[in-house]
Amino acid sequence: MGLKAERVAKWAVGEPQAPVRIELHPTNKCNLKCRFCWQSTVKEIDTSTELSDEKLYSIVREAAEIGVKEWIISGGGEPLVRRNATMNVFELIKKNNMWGQLTTNGTLFRKEDVKKLVEINWDQIQISIDGPNSKIQDYLRNKKGGFANAVETARLFSKYKINLDKNQPYLGFNTVLNRLNYDKLDEMIDLAYDVGFQLVYFEPIYGGYLTKERLTLNEEEKKELRYCAKKAKKRANRLRIDTNIDRFMQTKLVDKSDFKHVVLRETENSFNHFISAPCYQPWYLLGIKANGLAGCCSTFEVGEYIQDKTLKELWLSKTFNEIRNNMLNKNLPEYCSKCSVVVVMDNKDIRKSLKKNYEL
Ligand SMILES: C[S@@+](CC[C@H](N)C(=O)[O-])C[C@H]1O[C@@H](n2cnc3c(N)ncnc32)[C@H](O)[C@@H]1O
Ligand code: SF4
Ligand code: SF4
Repeated sequence: MGLKAERVAKWAVGEPQAPVRIELHPTNKCNLKCRFCWQSTVKEIDTSTELSDEKLYSIVREAAEIGVKEWIISGGGEPLVRRNATMNVFELIKKNNMWGQLTTNGTLFRKEDVKKLVEINWDQIQISIDGPNSKIQDYLRNKKGGFANAVETARLFSKYKINLDKNQPYLGFNTVLNRLNYDKLDEMIDLAYDVGFQLVYFEPIYGGYLTKERLTLNEEEKKELRYCAKKAKKRANRLRIDTNIDRFMQTKLVDKSDFKHVVLRETENSFNHFISAPCYQPWYLLGIKANGLAGCCSTFEVGEYIQDKTLKELWLSKTFNEIRNNMLNKNLPEYCSKCSVVVVMDNKDIRKSLKKNYEL
């Protein structure tokens, strides 16, 4: 949190700073149609508006120049569907000494891709596995053999790390908490241990794309989750697997339904402008979707197109500054209702650091 708080503190005294992190979706195309994902609601993906390869590379180069430090490559769709450009983006990020994380469904890797990512010292990979067995994973991900495929990729990464004698990438699962896995979280920890992974990162589910069935937790299941989470935490401690499961011990934080009030509640009793900003992402995080729409947080829906702009123009644009001003006035955009506990906790940490280390 150090650098994020440091840059937010400079913004607070009138010194605009570059984003610390960029979250980039190289493509909206995907080879899967997971049941809880927005992809399940659309018939065809339009790739005609995707940013060109050259634009992607120029964004990475400019980011390095202006002081961006971290990258999250995700989707949208599956980054590996756009293999060549995405692999080049990885290389360019590392050549420019920035930190990178990839979130992937893990089903499209060739051996040479895995080897390459390990060789270039890519920093972190999170493979999306939502169930500890093929029955759950293949159902949720709508793909027979999907579990076996993702687990095989996971093992391959662990193997190449050993063979090439590397400590990186730090390897983890991204696991969407849902009705079918909430009582098997300890088994997710076991699976991570078994494939040589270091992390199980749980994500709250956003239920807005579910039409046919319930995958969110009901009140009974949310209460039970607390017990399951404790059990998983114990297992993780024993096997030395990192996890954020303790962040879900409060029932109200388990899904992403109407999060706006949770974000707002965090600061309702404080008045100092920056200390009481409900969310700090607009000052440190730039999101770029596959069609070039960019916004100042990870869950944005309002922004500007980057096609004909530099990063700097975009980051300091009137649109972004309006979002920041509204945030200071506790006037949150509608899309905050889709946000998650992970962001609320990050904001808590930054606020704590601002109070402790800076005179604002
Ligand atoms: C949209 S995917 C894109 C990257 C890649 N295709 C994958 O599945 O990892 C990014 C992450 O969002 C998660 N995700 C998808 N739909 C979600 C939902 N409704 N609620 C919470 N997380 C979701 C996925 O499981 C994945 O970990
Ligand atoms: S693999 Fe990722 S992007 Fe594709 S449908 Fe599943 S969650 Fe969505
Ligand atoms: S959606 Fe709202 S609360 Fe979430 S990161 Fe964006 S601005 Fe912050």
